[in-house]
Amino acid sequence: MTDSLNQTVLITGASSGIGLALARDYLINGARVFVLARSQDKLNGLAREFPASCIPIPVDLTDKKSSQQAADLISAQTQHLDLAILNAGTCEYVDVNHFRLEPFNKVMAINWQGTLNSLTICLPLLRNMNKKNDYADQRSQLVVVSSMASLLPMPRSQAYGASKIALEYLFNSLRVDMAQEPIDITIIRPGFVKTPLTDRNDFAMPFALSAEKAVSIMVKGIAARKWIIQFPLPLVFIMRMLAFMPLKIQTWVLQKLSRASH
Ligand SMILES: NC(=O)c1ccc[n+]([C@@H]2O[C@H](COP(=O)([O-])OP(=O)(O)OC[C@H]3O[C@@H](n4cnc5c(N)ncnc54)[C@H](OP(=O)(O)O)[C@@H]3O)[C@@H](O)[C@H]2O)c1
Repeated sequence: MTDSLNQTVLITGASSGIGLALARDYLINGARVFVLARSQDKLNGLAREFPASCIPIPVDLTDKKSSQQAADLISAQTQHLDLAILNAGTCEYVDVNHFRLEPFNKVMAINWQGTLNSLTICLPLLRNMNKKNDYADQRSQLVVVSSMASLLPMPRSQAYGASKIALEYLFNSLRVDMAQEPIDITIIRPGFVKTPLTDRNDFAMPFALSAEKAVSIMVKGIAARKWIIQFPLPLVFIMRMLAFMPLKIQTWVLQKLSRASH
């Protein structure tokens, strides 16, 4: 159970996979949720299930003008946000034998620029939270969905991993500069989660979880205002052990994985 009654929540990438499962969880538990994505039909479908509390905002977050229009739509309907979950993202694998810029541009457009555009939308509304009803102790929360791939240089993940490491740097350093502000910042590092994104994967996904199971772990961690939420634990353990090892050993192990995945 999520303690989300009366919360106003914004979720990006809410038309599919993790974002959709997150939106459902908050809606079921009584939150008012702004759901953002490009697929208007899917957002409208969710809004039909929760007509009183789900507000669909169709937007291409890679596009500045579309993001500004979304910001105007949202701020016309709320003066504050309790929680913003910046989840929209994609993954493209790189073939180093046919090095092209496309996967880098595609991944960076949504994972990096899309998250920056989302921040521009939600930050003023998160900052308004503690002005709501003059409650000095009200804190809002900013959450970003990174990935376990940020821990190690995973095979074919040059674009995806770089985008997630950039996001973690951004959010960790926001935490430094915003220490005096009543906004908690949470970074989520999922392992493999079964979604339309990972349905495309042509390799085994160890310890893969359903979107619902992943979301139950995420909402508990968000409610506890953890700085980092990472799961599943067996994969966290393996990845962290490897990350502690000297780079030469790390690289040797990952090269074996790389060959196995070709
Ligand atoms: N699944 C995993 O194993 C896994 C593991 C670690 C981290 N993650 C991260 O979790 C997040 C969600 O992934 P997922 O697996 O749930 O993928 P998904 O099912 O493909 O969902 C991605 C969401 O992002 C939205 N999106 C993509 N481009 C967009 C754009 N230009 N503007 C607005 N919205 C956009 C999509 O909506 P539209 O297409 O309708 O725009 C969709 O709602 C991603 O950041 C991913 O990197 C996933």
